[in-house]
Amino acid sequence: MCKVAHEAGAYLKSEQKILHEDQVVEKHNHDYVSYVDQSSERLVVSRLKAILPDSGFLTEEGTAVHKDEPYWWVIDPLDGTTNYIHGYHNYAVSIALRNEHEILSGVVYDVCLDECFYAWKGGGSWLNGKRLHVNSDHDISQALLGIELPYDANDYRPTGLHLINHFYGLCGGIRMNGSAALAICNVASGRYDGWLERGIGQWDHAAASLVLIEAGGTITRFDGSSDYINHGDIIASNGTIHQELVDAVSNLKREE
Ligand code: IPD
Repeated sequence: MCKVAHEAGAYLKSEQKILHEDQVVEKHNHDYVSYVDQSSERLVVSRLKAILPDSGFLTEEGTAVHKDEPYWWVIDPLDGTTNYIHGYHNYAVSIALRNEHEILSGVVYDVCLDECFYAWKGGGSWLNGKRLHVNSDHDISQALLGIELPYDANDYRPTGLHLINHFYGLCGGIRMNGSAALAICNVASGRYDGWLERGIGQWDHAAASLVLIEAGGTITRFDGSSDYINHGDIIASNGTIHQELVDAVSNLKREE
């Protein structure tokens, strides 16, 4: 899986030099795609199909399908497309293998930093061969948080503004990086203490969620429930500050 992610990453890097703005299409409001996302996806799908011929696919660009196969790959061939088309150095290839109940293995490859995060169920979490652990900070005033604002500004505006208003000055710092997969891996590696966003695709969080869990972190939906896997409202944390993040979201609901 790492080898496949590296191959796709090399492709993304080389195409970035020649991609022209005319080749970028707006799928939905502020949500972009180009031939690069689609070609990267086809490449990843063909390599994975060769590894596990009977598997299905759930992919961001929809170039392959999942029918009733017991195992399927969840793929984001370019997470951080907006960063990519702006030449901002923070984007990744994300590949997970799952069954009906859980993620079995996951790889998130940070193309610009040449950092490969990977995990398999029960096998720990790794970054370029080094074991990963979340950090154990429990003091929110020291915490570095990722608060991402998704594309759909109208729907998310009250939540996003509430979260920034709530944590600005309360926590150690707030970041927004434009790649959900890398942000969750930042929590897994102890760089962030927590991160949250709503409205993301399963392909954005599938691989990174296992990297986080195997690094000792916690991932839930906004209401704190653990059935995050098929949903897009995600709170990822080092575990110790998780309840504060869940509470911050539910405070908003009470105020509405
Ligand atoms: C997006 C990124 C971004 C997040 C969006 C995602 P994409 O994925 O992860 O950080 O805010 O919600 O859709 O479109 O670049 O694959």
